[in-house]
Amino acid sequence: MFRFPIQKLFIVTATSLVCLISTSGCANKSSSTSGSTTSAPQGPAILIGEYGSMTGATATFGKSTDNGIQLAAEQMNADGGINGVPVSIILKDDESKAEQALTVVKLLIEQEHVTAILGEVASTRSINAAPECQSQHVPMISPSSTNPKVTTLGDYIFRVCFIDPFQGYAAAKFAIQSIKAKNAAIFTDSTNDYSVGLSDVFKTQFSKLGGNIVIAQNYGKDDPDFKAQLIAIKSKNPDVLYVPGYYNNVGTIARQAREVGITCPLLGGDGWDSPELIKSAGGPGKALEGCYFTNHYSPTDPNPLTQRFVADYKAKYGETPDSLAAMGYDAFGVLANALKTIGKPADGNFDSDSYRAKLRDAIAATNGFAGVTGKITLDKNRNAVKPAVVLQVKGNTFTYVTSIAP
Ligand code: PHE
Repeated sequence: MFRFPIQKLFIVTATSLVCLISTSGCANKSSSTSGSTTSAPQGPAILIGEYGSMTGATATFGKSTDNGIQLAAEQMNADGGINGVPVSIILKDDESKAEQALTVVKLLIEQEHVTAILGEVASTRSINAAPECQSQHVPMISPSSTNPKVTTLGDYIFRVCFIDPFQGYAAAKFAIQSIKAKNAAIFTDSTNDYSVGLSDVFKTQFSKLGGNIVIAQNYGKDDPDFKAQLIAIKSKNPDVLYVPGYYNNVGTIARQAREVGITCPLLGGDGWDSPELIKSAGGPGKALEGCYFTNHYSPTDPNPLTQRFVADYKAKYGETPDSLAAMGYDAFGVLANALKTIGKPADGNFDSDSYRAKLRDAIAATNGFAGVTGKITLDKNRNAVKPAVVLQVKGNTFTYVTSIAP
């Protein structure tokens, strides 16, 4: 049966187009690229779905990612759209819940008839929703899910970030070479695929590089208290405590670690990246002062593309973009680039199987795409291969320390 594409008709300016469908609200925010109506494309839009944690335990992940995606879409539309066609982002909140991620992805595909999907950030949520994208043959690009399993779920599933076997290696190398740690403790969120995976890699790599893992303990994301495990960790006197969890737990863990007398640096992964991390650790100069985490990019990277993005983002949102925002921006960029390459569908149908299959092939062929987080080339497993940066918590900011090459 012929299904008429629900590519709704919009006769609006590029800026209001993006705002119209966004739940994140662009009202009252200015942008250095908006305000021009002359080049704004008109007519039916290419619908791009986005799912993320706009509310719930890790809400800053979703909000920052969405900010990056909205900025990229707005700039694209102000620039004439993709092959003259405007894009609009249809955003669904998964409330930071894995089951809800699957529910909203089904809605995006079955009710909104999106061409492709951007999301999620948290690996567990990507892992839960990706099989639906795969079975319906809808290309999905995760901006920053790093657990290896995500892209093994099928050939329509991509990511624009590195994966945890590399991120864990980067952390272990930094612990040995820069922190000069010999004995490490690991504290894992056993309810989180990302945390479990990263802990495993760190354990292997740290030992391979000559270090000893003196103790490994677990927690759950909903635990209110971590002291029993932290007291056990303290008794082993580690030189470094690796905590590859999410920011919403890490602040409390850091405060309680100091309370039980752990004085060594804490080391983490990209899951620490949030404007709320330092606050939840008691504020600047408190429990996380001087601690380190591996991440996707640094806003102080002198690359002119990065600097232009940081300036545009600051102008629009009044804050420095975290790595989630930058990865969201690049995920949109890779998708838009692939759409540009394949051109418009001959039958005008942006959600047909054949158009999505072509799009899949074009995304898979991404090679040297100039992103704000660096050059993006997708390997045969649909993962990006990129360096990691190490950032240090200093006062109220994250300071660039070094880059580690894959
Ligand atoms: N990499 C994390 C995961 O896979 C998500 C994340 C990315 C968190 C970037 C913060 C910053 O679960």
